Amino acid sequence: MADISLDNALDGDAGRTLAEDVRDGLTRAHKELPPKHLYDSRGAALFDQICELPEYYPTRTERAILERVAAELIAASGASELVELGSGSAAKTRLLLDAMAAAGTLERYVPLDVTERVVRESAAALIREYPGLRVHGLIGDFERHLGRLPPAHGPRLLAFLGGTIGNFAPTQRGRFLRTIAGLLAAGDHLLLGTDLVKDRATLEAAYNDSAGITAEFNRNILRVINRELGASFDPTAFDHVAVFDERNEWIEISLRAREAQEVALPAIALTVHFAAGEELRTQISAKFTRERVAAELAAAGLELVAWHTDARAWFGLSLARAAAA
Ligand code: SAH
Ligand code: TRP
Repeated sequence: MADISLDNALDGDAGRTLAEDVRDGLTRAHKELPPKHLYDSRGAALFDQICELPEYYPTRTERAILERVAAELIAASGASELVELGSGSAAKTRLLLDAMAAAGTLERYVPLDVTERVVRESAAALIREYPGLRVHGLIGDFERHLGRLPPAHGPRLLAFLGGTIGNFAPTQRGRFLRTIAGLLAAGDHLLLGTDLVKDRATLEAAYNDSAGITAEFNRNILRVINRELGASFDPTAFDHVAVFDERNEWIEISLRAREAQEVALPAIALTVHFAAGEELRTQISAKFTRERVAAELAAAGLELVAWHTDARAWFGLSLARAAAA
């Protein structure tokens, strides 16, 4: 279709990075795996189900803020193209595209996601929904492939929603924000969604839903490793654990081995031992305050233009631009 172009930056090397990440993560004293491997097609579908769960407030809270302020954000940014990192099924993105269409500025949407299927499917759906819209989909890793983003056609809004920024470790997060700052030309803006610190019960419930979807999503990483690396993980032998670490202000998500076990990973010639109760960390999800967001943006050379939140101050949406040099 002429209105869609796709660029797959993962061609050829996706399997290699999984193998490297798994070797690196499972041979550490404190085992961990990078969260991007949670999102194969099944993982992406499970994540979409998480977004609908009664306990998972971030999606609906961010959506409500966007419903209220999208027109204002678009007016403030003057954007004609929307670049979205970790775009997923692009559900909330429609609110921004609607506001751009209403302002008469909408030209192009550039989603970047590791999951090929979500990029393809959202691109196809969006060109049907927005006549005249062009979509350039980039299948890739936002930690490695930002250089593959196409040159801007006009003022750009770079959106990073869903609190996904909270999934970086703090040092990576700083580096990532500096890279983003370097991508923003004069007139471009960053729209950043951050989940905010709140009471422990609300935070922990969001990652421990009663339907068990989050647990299934978390265990999906083991299925991905079994399939891609021929590993022998028994996903049912691991419990899902998600706890708010108050000192670090993040939710720590892991898989805890119910009993001692050995896991074979023939594709990387590795056997890994788990002790009973040993945890494998799959994700952190940092929670922010407005002050922290502003400080981290400033440290990266970004300045906060507008801060939007909901009545309970559960989620924050920041509009930022590169600080004057
Ligand atoms: N933006 C959506 C989805 C958030 S979930 C929302 O707000 O609801 C995080 C998304 O980022 C998933 O679609 C996942 O596939 C993608 N993702 C995770 N790590 C990534 C990485 N390193 N590079 C590119 N995309 C990544
Ligand atoms: N970006 C989401 C978040 O931090 C990702 C997420 C939600 C997640 N629930 C999860 C990751 C459960 C791993 C396990 O809120």
